[in-house]
Amino acid sequence: MACPDGPFLVRGDVDIVLPDGTPVPRTRKTVALCRCGLSTIKPFCDGTHRASGFRTG
Ligand code: FES
Repeated sequence: MACPDGPFLVRGDVDIVLPDGTPVPRTRKTVALCRCGLSTIKPFCDGTHRASGFRTG
C-alpha cells in the first residue's frame, strides 16, 4: 500500500532485495519502504519524508 506523501507499506511474507541482489533482513511483518529517497536507513522509511515536504501527487 502506498501512503500518501510517504512510504510504501509492505505486509506479509515478502522478500526484500536490493537492486544489487542483496537480501534485506526483516524483523517485522509490516515494514515501511522509503520512496522519497531521503531516509538514512534505506530501504526503510525513517520519517524524513515529513520534514522534507515530500509529495506524491
Ligand atoms: S518515505 Fe519516509 S523517509 Fe522516505
